[in-house]
Amino acid sequence: MEVTNKYIVIKKHIEDAPKESHFEIKTEPFSLSLEPGSDNVIVKNLCISIDPYLINRMKSYSASHKSISITAPLTPGEAIDAIIIGKVVASGNAKFGKDDLVLGVFTWAEYSVVKEQNIIRKLESSEFPLTYHLGILGFSGLSAYAGFFEICKPQKGEKVFVSAASGSVGNIVGQYAKLLGCYVVGCAGSQKKVALLKEKLGFDDAFNYKEERDLNSTLKRYFPDGIDIYFDNVGGEMLEAAVANMKAFGRVSVCGVISEYTDAEKRASPNMIDVVYKRITIRGFLATDFLNVFAEFSTKTLDYLRNGQLEVIEDKSLGVESIPSAFVGLFNGDNVGKKVVVLAEE
Ligand SMILES: NC(=O)c1ccc[n+]([C@@H]2O[C@H](COP(=O)([O-])OP(=O)(O)OC[C@H]3O[C@@H](n4cnc5c(N)ncnc54)[C@H](OP(=O)(O)O)[C@@H]3O)[C@@H](O)[C@H]2O)c1
Repeated sequence: MEVTNKYIVIKKHIEDAPKESHFEIKTEPFSLSLEPGSDNVIVKNLCISIDPYLINRMKSYSASHKSISITAPLTPGEAIDAIIIGKVVASGNAKFGKDDLVLGVFTWAEYSVVKEQNIIRKLESSEFPLTYHLGILGFSGLSAYAGFFEICKPQKGEKVFVSAASGSVGNIVGQYAKLLGCYVVGCAGSQKKVALLKEKLGFDDAFNYKEERDLNSTLKRYFPDGIDIYFDNVGGEMLEAAVANMKAFGRVSVCGVISEYTDAEKRASPNMIDVVYKRITIRGFLATDFLNVFAEFSTKTLDYLRNGQLEVIEDKSLGVESIPSAFVGLFNGDNVGKKVVVLAEE
């Protein structure tokens, strides 16, 4: 049987802020049968994780390109691979059967032909919505868990600052920190997001960074005795101001530097004298470095969810056509929580 498959490409490399006009929706005839002897799998994509790191793959050059396979550069005109959950519609591979739910690196498309090595895992029937496996139970959650617990080694009562705190990773970091008994302040780009952090997610305090003129004195106001842990999602001036306000032996977990992704001129230059004399640790990481703690993360996070101790914040768009605007919106602060595009119901 043949269907029509819609998929998204970039028209050319994107060197600064992405716009919807950088993308094109292509349509092709697509066979739902595999060639005889193929051990591939055909997947109908159900929900797509929309992630900021892809902008670095869309550039002609980025220091990220040679890091790991899922950060490799993308080619204009070709399908874009990303973390997706789909349902198997045909399989030439004995490990996967029709109707299996699979999570892996598929394409921004309605259907993908997938090799076995691109399937990360099968999802058994879940007590929680499928989309949770892209966010709180997926790489966003693992990034929050590993970046906070493994890198920062937090202690109860410590003072924690989180940037992009209403985003997919940031909101989970703040909630984990509160569950541990830390004092947590987050920043976000609107009053609505600030209210969400304080009123729904239990942050001790929060501020709109877009309304602040001098981030150094802003952080001094929120942390008069200094910051123990800074979970950095944004880089730039916020990282500089956080370093200036760290306590001795403070830890900075650098998860991402989104403010630098779309501005080639922008580079944080933290005061290195502070780093030396306050003996601050600044460490970058990738969630994929911490697959060894996935089981531990998953067990603890499922427990928190079952006990109603974690709020899940998702931001969904519908249909393949909405992928470009969903992605562009990450860089304009349009999303609240995990951004997901839902293509079809299970
Ligand atoms: N190391 C890893 O393995 C790993 C894994 C996942 C994500 N990350 C990184 O973690 C960060 C957060 O990712 P996420 O998936 O949770 O995305 P997200 O926070 O859900 O979405 C991006 C948010 O970033 C904020 N933002 C956008 N442009 C900004 C700018 N110029 N300055 C300050 N804030 C800006 C916006 O919120 P506001 O309204 O608050 O501005 C936006 O909603 C990103 O840097 C991402 O690349 C790293």
